[in-house]
Amino acid sequence: MAQLAINGGSRVRTGSWPSWPIWDERDAEAVADVVRSGKWGRLVGDRVQTFEEAFAAYQGAEFGIAVVNGSVSLRIALLASGIKAGDEVVVPPYTFSATAMSVVEANAVPIFADIVEDTACLDPDAFERAITPRTRAVIPVHLGGQAADMERICAIAKRHGIAVIEDAAHAHGARYQGKGLGTVGDIGSFSFQASKNLTSGEGGIILTNDPELADTCHSIHHCGRARGGGWYEHRILGCNYRLSEMQAALLLTQLERLEDQTERRNANGLYLNEQLAKIPGILPMARGLGEDRHSYHLYPFRYDTAAFGGASRERFVAALVAEGIPCSEGYTIPLYRQEFFLNKAFGPYTGWRDSRPDLDYASMVCPVCERFSTETGCWFTQFMLLGTREDMDEIVRAVRKVQENCGEL
Ligand SMILES: Cc1ncc(COP(=O)(O)O)c(C=O)c1O
Repeated sequence: MAQLAINGGSRVRTGSWPSWPIWDERDAEAVADVVRSGKWGRLVGDRVQTFEEAFAAYQGAEFGIAVVNGSVSLRIALLASGIKAGDEVVVPPYTFSATAMSVVEANAVPIFADIVEDTACLDPDAFERAITPRTRAVIPVHLGGQAADMERICAIAKRHGIAVIEDAAHAHGARYQGKGLGTVGDIGSFSFQASKNLTSGEGGIILTNDPELADTCHSIHHCGRARGGGWYEHRILGCNYRLSEMQAALLLTQLERLEDQTERRNANGLYLNEQLAKIPGILPMARGLGEDRHSYHLYPFRYDTAAFGGASRERFVAALVAEGIPCSEGYTIPLYRQEFFLNKAFGPYTGWRDSRPDLDYASMVCPVCERFSTETGCWFTQFMLLGTREDMDEIVRAVRKVQENCGEL
């Protein structure tokens, strides 16, 4: 008789998971207050500035500039860092498209460098190998809230005079060597898109400790106006990337929950690491690499097909889902294999033509990322890690059940 739910056996988990986002009347009232005030934009209200100050302080930065999403925040960070047409920017290939697309939208050239297998974050050695005389910036991604190896990345960047822009879209509340992620390099970029650990549906913020960078980011997000300058006084290229007061009101109430939620995710993540490591073929990601706290926007782990009778990752994930445990194969190809890159479909952004006429993403190979994205990488998402210890035990029980009955896969 079949044991696995995918074959008609009974499911390990029948209950539901915490839903996301989490909100109550306080959030609704905060937004309604803004509506009633009639002050809906930052030029007339004070919520956006209050949130910028609160989030910057929470993460440990001096300055915060709230913007419409975590994609333009990267582009603004690149422009503020002085990136020019054709400059090269090193990025990891295991990430959301925006990490590299923002580089193209700054008319610069994304150069992919491989990841480390047990963190899925940028490999500092691969980063260093990718540096050329044209490299001006690096964008380490704190994948899922796991700190990239910032100590080495910053040291290499400093030696080569390269700006470090942290893609901290997953890293709200995550800490590394006593600092909040997103405040370790020159600039940090966060997203408040609907799935993120701190959300207002859409939104983003740029953090920095550098007053000049902060002023430039502020100008860019405010149509190129100088801080304190006149309304019709545009000094640099910019656009309206301002967050609304309704979004800021929601972020302020959501921020009150973030600390407890982050503590819970971190504790559950550590527990899962300990328990899942006991199951053959399941390899949790590394901890203890300088991070004080992981935000677990994602809980990635590696799957070894050999310990599951050769069953594909797709089949393993489907079996877990059937057991009532949401699981994903994650980013299933390295970013450089997207048609956008293969065809260099960069629209009007032709900066690469002069500096890198040889540019050919089809010949790019990052072997660790290839393996992680196509064969071994899997993840659970943040809302699951908001569950109880019993919920974590059910995840472990389901994974163990699938492994013990892998002959059925
Ligand atoms: C790693 C990473 N960087 C950047 C972004 C872009 O953020 P947004 O969706 O707010 O534009 C995301 C969003 O999913 C992301 O996951």
